[in-house]
Amino acid sequence: MSAKASVLFVCLGNICRSPMAEAVMRHLVRQEGLSDRIEIDSAGTGDWHLGHPPHEGTRGVLDRHGIRYDGMKARLVNGADFDRFTYIVCMDSKNLKDASEVFGEGSNERSKLFTFMELLPERGIADVPDPYYSGNFDHVYELVEAGCKVLLQKVKEEL
Ligand code: 4NP
Repeated sequence: MSAKASVLFVCLGNICRSPMAEAVMRHLVRQEGLSDRIEIDSAGTGDWHLGHPPHEGTRGVLDRHGIRYDGMKARLVNGADFDRFTYIVCMDSKNLKDASEVFGEGSNERSKLFTFMELLPERGIADVPDPYYSGNFDHVYELVEAGCKVLLQKVKEEL
């Protein structure tokens, strides 16, 4: 096995949900010894928080679970990301719509672009709720951890 894969998580502000998923996924990848084979990143569709570290609610929940997030800074999703990443996982359906507009025609029909909750169909919810508004970072963490475990299995099978 030598192929490389890469995962980009996308949300709105790139300070709450997608950085949480980035940090959790990187942690799981590191635990499996696959850090040099699987690259992880995150980006936002909105520009309010560019260059900012993860939200204090995301930092708090990651601290409680012993997961690192040092050096992470919010950035905007861009057109080149579509070719650069193997998987582009959007935290909600609006993020998916906005990202596919950035990526251009046809991107929405490609299997590399999907929503995070498609990884957890048994939950019966379409979107990872935005804790920026709800404040419920623990609920988001539970979804993110479960979904990242499923995603890592998928990535490993397709490496
Ligand atoms: P995120 O949450 O998309 O999970 O990072 C948000 C962060 C910031 C804003 C909205 C959602 N905002 O409006 O600034």
